[in-house]
Amino acid sequence: MGLVNLSHVLLKAKERGYAVGAFNFVNMEMLQGILDAAVETHSPVIIQTTEGAIEYAGIDYLASMARMAAEKANIEVVIHLDHGKSLDTVMLALEHGYTSVMIDASDKPYKENLSLTKEAVDRAHKFNASVEAELGRLKGIEDNVNVDDAGSTLVDPEQAKEFVKATGVDALAPAIGTSHGAFKFKGTPRLDMKRLELVASLTGIPLVLHGASSVPKGSIEKANKYGANIKGAAGVPDDIIKQAIKQGICKVNTDTDLRLAFTASVREELAKHPEEFDLRKILGPTRQAVKAIVLNRIGVFGSGNRG
Ligand code: G3H
Ligand code: 13P
Ligand code: ZN
Repeated sequence: MGLVNLSHVLLKAKERGYAVGAFNFVNMEMLQGILDAAVETHSPVIIQTTEGAIEYAGIDYLASMARMAAEKANIEVVIHLDHGKSLDTVMLALEHGYTSVMIDASDKPYKENLSLTKEAVDRAHKFNASVEAELGRLKGIEDNVNVDDAGSTLVDPEQAKEFVKATGVDALAPAIGTSHGAFKFKGTPRLDMKRLELVASLTGIPLVLHGASSVPKGSIEKANKYGANIKGAAGVPDDIIKQAIKQGICKVNTDTDLRLAFTASVREELAKHPEEFDLRKILGPTRQAVKAIVLNRIGVFGSGNRG
């Protein structure tokens, strides 16, 4: 109970056939909404911050809030660095008590990705922390960089096998057709399940699905009703997530769904109460909005009562 590393929760998930949700947060209300849902359902949970979140809020604030939340909760909590781009950020996270780090050198040549990942593994394991890496490259917005069709590539399963053996990495995110953000598919949603199955059998380690938000219609409708202008949004349907979990996905990342729910809630409060300027009234309901999304995700992932 309390703070554990990524391998601790993912190896159990892999053996028992469910996935653990990894939820991004940038402020207190998001963190509280995520933890409330996980505690209520007795689900293990991964709370994660990107480099952008660290730049925004400061790692001292994020890490102390996260450690406090993990210590208080009677469930297993992993504090994870999402898309760490350098060994410096990896070290910063480890020194602040993160129990897991992602070294994402997927934009670099394969050999460089391999050697950076190996170094991150050597360093993180000294802290009893776990390491996630990425192979192939997702489409979408990452750290304000737009990776387009031409810049994205799917994972090569044979390369994944070699990479995992050479680096000793604890979890791998294979690019299989998802993308970050709210605009994932133009036509019918489709992931490369055959490729996923192959990567799972060749590597034997827990796999991670990035860009997995479902982009709920309800959040989009609410946001647009209260002044947003979001068109053509599409996420990964729940049945595809469930199928991916059957084929080896043990960690499912969600950021966009939380952002959409949070901002739709703020828009609604401001529109319904134009006279209001008490932050607690405007931001308070965002906790419930985030919690509702996380409760739903936990149901889809099957991680309830496994914490
Ligand atoms: O990759 C995960 C995120 O959704 C992108 O987050 O804007 O904090 O880098 P960021
Ligand atoms: P979404 O944009 O689909 O929420 O993906 C988040 C993610 O992969 C964080 O690493
Ligand atoms: Zn991601």
